[in-house]
This record gives sequence, C-alpha cells and structure tokens, in this order.
Amino acid sequence: MRMLRSLLLGSIFAASVFAAEPAHLVGGVNDSTGGPVAGALVTARHLALACSTTVYADAAGRYTFPPLEPGLYHVRARRPGFRDRVETVELAPGATVHKTVVVEPETDPRELAWQLPANRWLALAVARLPDDAAREEFRRQCTFCHQQGSWATRVQRDPEEWRKIFALMARMGGVLSTRVRTVLPDALNGAYDETSFVPALGEHFVPPPPPDAAAARAVVTEWEVGDIGSMQHDLAVHPDGHVYSVDTTQDKLYRLDPRTGERRTFDIPRGDSPLGGVFSTQQPIPANADAHVAPHSLQVARDGSIWITLCLGNKIARFDPQTEHFDIYPQQEGLYPHTLRFDARGRVWYTLAVSNQVAMLDPATGERRTYLLPARTWKERLAVRAVPWFLWLGRYVSLDPERAGDGPELPIPYGIDIAPDGGVWFSQLNAHRIGRLDPESGDIRVIDTPFSAPRRLRFDSRGNLWIPGFSSGVLARFDPRNGEFHTWELPIEPRGSETPYALNVDRRTDSVWICGTESDTLMRFEPATEHFTVYPLPTRVTYTREIDFDAAGAVWTSNSNLPAWQIEGAAPKLIRLELDGAG
Ligand code: HEC
Repeated sequence: MRMLRSLLLGSIFAASVFAAEPAHLVGGVNDSTGGPVAGALVTARHLALACSTTVYADAAGRYTFPPLEPGLYHVRARRPGFRDRVETVELAPGATVHKTVVVEPETDPRELAWQLPANRWLALAVARLPDDAAREEFRRQCTFCHQQGSWATRVQRDPEEWRKIFALMARMGGVLSTRVRTVLPDALNGAYDETSFVPALGEHFVPPPPPDAAAARAVVTEWEVGDIGSMQHDLAVHPDGHVYSVDTTQDKLYRLDPRTGERRTFDIPRGDSPLGGVFSTQQPIPANADAHVAPHSLQVARDGSIWITLCLGNKIARFDPQTEHFDIYPQQEGLYPHTLRFDARGRVWYTLAVSNQVAMLDPATGERRTYLLPARTWKERLAVRAVPWFLWLGRYVSLDPERAGDGPELPIPYGIDIAPDGGVWFSQLNAHRIGRLDPESGDIRVIDTPFSAPRRLRFDSRGNLWIPGFSSGVLARFDPRNGEFHTWELPIEPRGSETPYALNVDRRTDSVWICGTESDTLMRFEPATEHFTVYPLPTRVTYTREIDFDAAGAVWTSNSNLPAWQIEGAAPKLIRLELDGAG
C-alpha cells in the first residue's frame, strides 16, 4: 500500500494537494463593446494564501483556470491598452464560477506609456547617452539590482538628487565613471520628461502582440515569500518537490511546498559575522537590510542537502533538510563566494567574485582549492590585490566609493558551470570573457566574448555553452569544440533593450530558458528551430536572476528586485511557469 501511494504521488508530482474540494473558474475578458480581449492576463490571487494563479485569454477572449483552492480571490484582467480591472470572487469548494471581466480602453497617452515595462523606458534613457561605451557602462552598472526605468526609478530629479542617488548606489556596488555620472542626469531627466516619453511611448502606443498559441497555454503561479526588506535571490528545485530560495538581505533560507502552498523560513547562522559581513566597513547594503552573511546562490547536492554561498559572510553553508541543521564552512582564501554548481563527482565549484578566483570544495574528502584567474592588465591585477587592503583601510579612513568608477574595474568572475567533459567554465563579467579551468591540471584558458558582460552561463546536454550577454542584450552559444560563438538578438521590443541576467537549459529537451530581467518576461529558445517564445509575466517589475526546472518540466524563477518595494505589490515571489497547465 505504501509503495502504491508513493508511486501515485510520484506520478502526480506537480499536482496540488487541496485542503478542500477544488473550485473552478472560467470565463472571458471583453472590451466595452463585447469584443474579445485576446492575450489578456487573468490573475486570481487567493487573499488568505498570498498566492496568485495567472492564465492568458485566448483569441476569443476565453480563459480557463486549473482547479483552484477554494477561498476569496481578487481576479484581475490586464492587457496593455486597457485599464486593469479587479473583481472580488468567492470560490466555494467544488463550485464552478463563470466570470466575464469587462475592461475599459485606456486613452490617456501618459497612462499608456506608464503601463509599459521598464525596458521601454531604459531604451529612451540609453538613446540619450553620448556613445556605446557610456551606454554599456550604464546598462551594466545600473541594472543589476533593480530594473532601470520601472515606475519607481523613472522620475525626474534635480542634479543634486541624482548625485546623492549615484553616491548611494556606488556604495552598494553600482559604480559609474565620472564621465557617465556627469552625463547621466540629463539623459535620465530627458527620457522621463513627458514631452519625450508621451510621444515615444504613449501616442505611438502599439499593444504588444498577444502571446502566441504556445505561450497562451501556460499557467503562471506566484507564491509570495519574504517581505519588503527582502532581496530574494536565487532558487533551486529539490528532487523531493520543495523549492528553496534565499533572502540575501535578511540571511534566510525559504522553502515552499508547491503542492500545499506551505512556506517555511530557516535562519542561516551568522556566527561572528557583523552586519555587512567581511565588507562591513564599506556598508555595501541598503539601509533597511539585515545582512550579516548574505546568502546568494544555492544548489541541491546528490545527497539532498542544500549548498549555499554566503557572499558577505565569506562562507559556504550546507543545509540538511532532514535535520534542518546548517554546517558552515568559512572561506579562508578569497572574497565573495558567488555562484555555485556541482560537478559529476559531487564537488562544489564556485566563483569568488571580488578576489577573481574560482574555488572547489569536496564534501566527500573535505579538500578545498582556490585558483586565481587571469586579469587583463596589470592595473586590474593590482585592483584585485588591493581589495583586502581597502577593506582594512576602510576601518580607519572613510573611502569615497563614487571615485572607484574611474579606476580599473575588478574582472568579477560570475557564472560557472561544468561541461560534460568535467571542465569548469566561468564568465568574467566586467572583463567580457569566459574561460575554462581544467579541474585536474589547474590550467586556465580565457576567451574574449564578442559581446559584453557574459553573466550566468549553462551547458546543454551536447556540450554547447549558452551565455546571456547582460549589457549587450543577446543570447549566445559557444561551441568549445571549434571555439565559435553564435549570437541571437532577444525578441524584446525595442531590440537590444533587454538585460538578461541568467539562463538555464532543460537538459531533457535542450530548450534554453532566458530571464527577461528588464521586460517582465521569461523567454524560451528552441535551438533546433531557432524559435523564441516570449511569456509575459503578470507582476510588474519582475526582476529575475535564476531559472530551474522541476520533475514535471515546469520552469521556476524568482522575483528578486532589490529593493522589494519597487515590485508591484511590494512582495518578492517564487514563480512557476507550467507550459501546458491551462484548461
Ligand atoms: C547594488 C544594488 C543597486 C545597484 C547596482 C543600483 N541600485 Fe538603485 N537602488 C538600490 C536600492 C537598494 C534602492 C532603494 C533605496 C532605498 O529604498 O532607500 C535603489 C533605488 C534607486 C532609485 C529610486 C530612489 C528613490 O528614492 O526613489 C533610483 C532612481 C535608482 N536606484 C537608480 C540607480 C542608478 C542610476 C543606478 C546605477 C548607478 C543604480 N540605481 C544601481 C540598489 C541598487
């Protein structure tokens, strides 16, 4: 009997476990003339469970939700070109509710512009910068915590206020050169002036095409986790069906059970790490943050334990889901454990972003290694060496972080992944290159990328390396066998306005999933047909940094905008996209 039960549970892995008989919600989205509003996103938020389900209206404006937990809902219909409409709906156990939602056209060009995602506004600001180098620097340095051009940022401010904002952002790591800092206030104020954005985005408003037939079958579920002071960073799907994520600014590990909606929070031990961790003298965190160790990236080991980089605490954590106990491994050499991945032998490889290193930890033997990566110039090498000294100096004199943008940049090893042949590949974000570390000999080879800011890269099942170009807005494939790159422009309008942070390859199908970090989307790319599918996500300011897959083939990501108050609804979310969940 027990075996049958576990078999059954296994086969309905993705299905929900309902507290009561589920309810059904179907209907249509119409305009005021009764015509269908194809492509409308219909979102039902269960008020008590802090969980939203979204489906897309089809060409006839019809929508069908998967079975829903009974309860009180807010049902919102949204489609660019129309005003949002929210209605309260009570779903009783077992009931089927038919609901037609009528949306009014939006005619105010200012409001039409305001409905558009940040990438449309970012493009306006970028176009006002004097040259490609300035545009690249602004895109790379100003969009890695939050969207640039979201409702919260697209505000005109006097130059003194911009100066204060740049100083605050520089303290946290968004450092600009004096040159870009000087021209940026005019570019931003010009872009955010009604006389420019109303004609550009409002009067020439063209609603985005409705999602294509494939995208329209998707169901998006969003679970709220953390709070307004959170930076929910990466997530990882556990083979047992739980989904884990970390809160960088509050030193927490979250666990969601998508079958029941249950969420749990685990405090990551801080040990003796002060506020700000080893960088405490630089205060590299927002004012309301409570980050001593700052969990960043996480992966599940073969034994089911969760391994986490603690970037500010300069430690690695292992969490055992059985005992709910954490083991902490301090990083003796190097600074800022960043992204981690396992190799086929179960060893943990991770980048050390600030000290320009890659490290290895072997849980089986306790062996640890670090490898210093090449720097491009002697100045870069010096900058890397000077970091510990600056940390020490910062205790005694106050350093001006704004000035740092004129010095040589740190190369910043970023993404990391293991090739099928065991080679350890990494990107150096600011150095615009990727490299391979041979795990046996320690030999390192670096390769310049023909696009800027390679971020979180991943291998497919056939040994191709897929790379998102963050400030360049491209998807790239690198073939280690012949050393060739191939790049694709992402299908987000206007072209080149996306800043993809991460991607992941579902190695069962080799579909490539890409974060539409600036445009509130997820994108799918099929290498065989070179076809992109864009999935618009329901929450404005959905800043995504990582993608994972569950056993049923659903795609997971997290809304990680820092600060969380800029996210629509001010709540970070764990997001699941089921490809064929509707109806
Ligand atoms: C390291 C993370 C990080 C980077 C990089 C970053 N920001 Fe921010 N930004 C924040 C945080 C955190 C806040 C919220 C601050 C607060 O609530 O006090 C914020 C807020 C803002 C705001 C809204 C300010 C307000 O009070 O309304 C603007 C505008 C802004 N950032 C612009 C920028 C620009 C321009 C850059 C590039 C130089 C940048 N950000 C880079 C973290 C970042």
